[in-house]
Amino acid sequence: MALPHPNNGVQRQASQRFVFGPPVSCRALSLSRATIDYKMSNFASPAHNRHTARSYSLPSTGRGTEYYDVVVVGAGAAGLMCAVEAGKRGRRVLVLEHADRVGKKILISGGGRCNFTNLSATPADYRSENPYFCISALTRYTPQDFIDLVEKHRIVYHEKKLGQLFCNGASQEIVRMLFTECEMAGVTIKTSCKVISVHCDNVFSTHTNLGWVVSDKLVMATGGPSIPQMGSTRFSQEVASQFGLKVTTMRPGLVPFIFKGPDLEFCRRLAGLSIPCRVVCNGVSFDENLLFTHQGISGPAILQISSYWTEKKAIYVDLLPGLDLAAHLQEQKDYRPKAELATILSSLLPRNFVRAMCETYLPNRTISTLTIKELDAIVDILKAWTLTPSGTEGYRKAEVTLGGVDTTGLSSKTMEAVLVAGLFFIGEAVDVTGPLGGYNFQWAWASGYCAGQYV
Ligand code: FDA
Repeated sequence: MALPHPNNGVQRQASQRFVFGPPVSCRALSLSRATIDYKMSNFASPAHNRHTARSYSLPSTGRGTEYYDVVVVGAGAAGLMCAVEAGKRGRRVLVLEHADRVGKKILISGGGRCNFTNLSATPADYRSENPYFCISALTRYTPQDFIDLVEKHRIVYHEKKLGQLFCNGASQEIVRMLFTECEMAGVTIKTSCKVISVHCDNVFSTHTNLGWVVSDKLVMATGGPSIPQMGSTRFSQEVASQFGLKVTTMRPGLVPFIFKGPDLEFCRRLAGLSIPCRVVCNGVSFDENLLFTHQGISGPAILQISSYWTEKKAIYVDLLPGLDLAAHLQEQKDYRPKAELATILSSLLPRNFVRAMCETYLPNRTISTLTIKELDAIVDILKAWTLTPSGTEGYRKAEVTLGGVDTTGLSSKTMEAVLVAGLFFIGEAVDVTGPLGGYNFQWAWASGYCAGQYV
């Protein structure tokens, strides 16, 4: 593909700020001089603000052309990991990030403590149109490999539950670790640098708001559109389409549900209340907590099931998993015939939830007066509470994007596009999505690591 851009305002901007190369086309590169005068103060990692005003020069190739071996677009979990690995192999690596700091999603993850991996993550936990695609990467870079890195940097962590590993301190420790690894591997990072377009003509030419940069290899690591306020874009998927790769249907995953009408009123009334439950949808179930919100329901059980929910489908909530409620109610009817239903249920469920349930859906009478049919209906409601969300809170609140760059166009070993040599896709940008609990970072580390071995 020839580079179609005339060299207008770009060069002017570039000479004022930093970089870069190809003024007209990749062929013209041999005539252009690419020099970086890169201020570290632009790299707004809070831990490293002390590194100000250092400048870097692009090493010369000896052919009169200067460029990077590898350009990584996106300084998130996957991009930084890839950059570290490529840098360790002696590749000259430039990471371009349009936000004012690196790893923004890492910083906000895990409630500020970054659930950085999951001890029990296996390829079978991930969703993709090709569930076999992730096996190679996840087997070559395991949770233990990332734990080794975390321990090397003396980051203290703990298992919260279900194999989920969190920092004892702040997520920033993980960002600092990755940044330190980048420094040690000689990686150059440029923040506040938005990549606008990419072009390929033997080499890759990357057009940014600050100018152009040229590289042999280009790694797309811009994630998916979830939480756009954190800098997420569809850029990787757009680049994939540009180069003829397919993109699977994308939708928000790990996202709260919203309701309308009486269900919404019910949720609002209980906003803030969390209840352990089993939630079922489309043949999949999760045992975790459900949280009532002002818009509907959230909490780990709901976020998990949202990735399996399809429009207009009902979800079923067992509010007393592990209890034979029919037998329990029959027992109570025999031994405490004068007890009210609300009193009996309050020993099993939070009192305000029982009150709301009894005022809305359940007959709150003394248990001896309840017919078998009524008792059966009560069991149905509490063991398979049927809720039909009117939708989700969308990308604005989604922790991940389901779908992405179609894996049929990528090598599962290298993450390189099968038909476009030198172009790689990693992390959330790709159609591989894990459940809640450290799985998505594990995919980001693993896919970044694998690409880093081949770029
Ligand atoms: P990511 O989105 O992290 O990085 C992409 C980068 O590309 C961003 O920095 C973006 O600014 C940049 N970019 C985009 N377009 C660009 C352009 N045109 N030019 C330059 N740069 C561009 N997972 C987990 O395992 N454990 C957890 O605890 C959590 N917690 C969590 C909380 C919240 C609130 C969210 C939203 C998500 C999580 N996740 C999570 C999911 C996890 O954050 C996610 O899977 C990874 O961050 C994906 O990493 P990537 O590097 O692929 O994309």
